[in-house]
Amino acid sequence: MQSIEELQKIIDRAISESQYPESPQELYQPITYLMELGGKRLRPASLLMACNLFSDNISKAIKPALGIEVFHNFTLMHDDIMDNAPLRRGKPTVHKKWNQSVAILSGDVMLVEAYKLMMQVETEIIAQILGIFNDTAVGVCEGQQMDMNFESVSEVNVEQYINMIRLKTAVLLGGALKIGALIGGSSLTDAELLYQFGENLGIAFQLHDDILDVYGDPEKFGKQVGGDILSNKKTFMLISARALATGELNNSLEKWLEHTEKDPGNKVQAVTEIYDQLGVKNLAEKEMMNFAEKAIRALEQVSAETSKKEILRKFAETLLVRES
Ligand code: IPE
Ligand code: IPE
Ligand code: MG
Ligand code: MG
Ligand code: MG
Repeated sequence: MQSIEELQKIIDRAISESQYPESPQELYQPITYLMELGGKRLRPASLLMACNLFSDNISKAIKPALGIEVFHNFTLMHDDIMDNAPLRRGKPTVHKKWNQSVAILSGDVMLVEAYKLMMQVETEIIAQILGIFNDTAVGVCEGQQMDMNFESVSEVNVEQYINMIRLKTAVLLGGALKIGALIGGSSLTDAELLYQFGENLGIAFQLHDDILDVYGDPEKFGKQVGGDILSNKKTFMLISARALATGELNNSLEKWLEHTEKDPGNKVQAVTEIYDQLGVKNLAEKEMMNFAEKAIRALEQVSAETSKKEILRKFAETLLVRES
């Protein structure tokens, strides 16, 4: 088994070797800009790890792994427009550095590029792999639309929130693992178990992302801290806070949710203080650990040597203590 760092290096090399046409430069430059800003490369690394569980030869999984990362970066480019986000990986987002039209169209072409890469698997499995990729891509769009809808809906419960993050974030990690396993020659049962591992881990990952959005170190996080509070994202912490707050605290929270703030810092600070008083960070961390444990239980059932699965277990651990 290759280490996570080795796999991330393989992906970074493949990214730096990717060539896009020179012109129109507004279409292609943002792709290289965003892809080379860094990023943890979790999804392609997962795809390669899943392949490596069943095969020593991971070279045949490199193009699809790159495809997953291009797809992920496409979703980020569009997500940043939707979330009105100024920063990504510590640098200006594409729609801020260029403009919205550029970010839309450059994202569109990235989706096509992702498909071109994803198709590069053995002929017998193309339809199966593209089928999984299609389901994943549709899931992400559904989740993203739900996320946007929830911004202006008051009554969102935990179950609806979990389903929304399952779609917008977790199915991609699940899909990456399932595709990697099948390229490596796994059984459908094992591929499905790895999907479940990824889906539950992805839910834990997004819960953690939502915690970092409030409590992250701006230097390390690379994104605007407090962005979710400013757009009234119905995160686990906000849903829990609304369920727990009573009296004055409740009035204050509801007032801030209606606020269209002239000084955004005030809203972020005020809502964060309410979260602190109610201890919702701790609740979100507990929820995150529940999903992480579910993920590990699925991994345990995969029929591969325990020593080989260890790398995926370690990967799950590192994912949930990240700071960026
Ligand atoms: C960001 O994903 C989008 C979410 C699903 C939270 P990552 O945190 O994996 O972003 P990069 O690719 O490492 O920048
Ligand atoms: C987005 O979730 C997940 C995607 C499908 C891109 P977020 O909106 O929380 O992701 P970040 O925080 O901007 O990376
Ligand atoms: Mg978003
Ligand atoms: Mg966002
Ligand atoms: Mg986020």
